[in-house]
Amino acid sequence: MPKTDEEVRAQRTADAAPEKNAQEAQDAHVPLVVISSRTGNTMILGHAITDALPGAVLMRTSEVPEDLERFNPVLLGFWCDRGDAPEDMRELAKRLHGKRIACFATMGGDPDKDAWMRRASESLVAAGSDNELVDIFLCRGRIDPEVFERMTTMLGGNVSPERESRRRESETHPDRTDLARGAEFFRSVFGMNF
Ligand SMILES: Cc1cc2nc3c(=O)[nH]c(=O)nc-3n(C[C@H](O)[C@H](O)[C@H](O)COP(=O)(O)O)c2cc1C
Repeated sequence: MPKTDEEVRAQRTADAAPEKNAQEAQDAHVPLVVISSRTGNTMILGHAITDALPGAVLMRTSEVPEDLERFNPVLLGFWCDRGDAPEDMRELAKRLHGKRIACFATMGGDPDKDAWMRRASESLVAAGSDNELVDIFLCRGRIDPEVFERMTTMLGGNVSPERESRRRESETHPDRTDLARGAEFFRSVFGMNF
């Protein structure tokens, strides 16, 4: 038992410390934006979204540190890889626990067809534990010409009019409007309430 006034004060400070530390940890939470991008489209979108969230940090999947305690929410940005999130993002998602997660993606096709994205996002959130999916955002992303060529060869060398029109549609994306929409979307989702 503390006896002097000084000892009593020291004891009180020690008793309050865990509470203070917990509060500080809460205050210290910063939004983390994690990107998987092969040809740069999703990275460009990721930068616009990061700029819209005060204090947010952007990293590639390969740069994410071991200790994720101080990060929340976590925004996962990825490209459409045959109707799913790419493997590096699926691996990273297994390490997320107790996070508010939002997802954004770019795809070569029509972003109105977003069922794959919803499915992929739900599966990323479920890959860890105790996570919550906050919202998703999807836009077009230019298909790399080399990728397009390779796919054309795999499909027998012919480009159907539908495929060509999809390619043309995505050629200029993500454009300024996509970037502004993505930034505004997540600003309104999170505001300052991290
Ligand atoms: C291997 C591969 C598979 C792809 N699969 C799809 C697909 O199934 N649907 C689609 O709309 N776009 C698909 N794309 C196009 C990309 O998702 C799209 O161009 C995206 O914007 C690329 O993003 P990035 O520049 O961040 O890598 C694919 C691209 C590659 C390289």
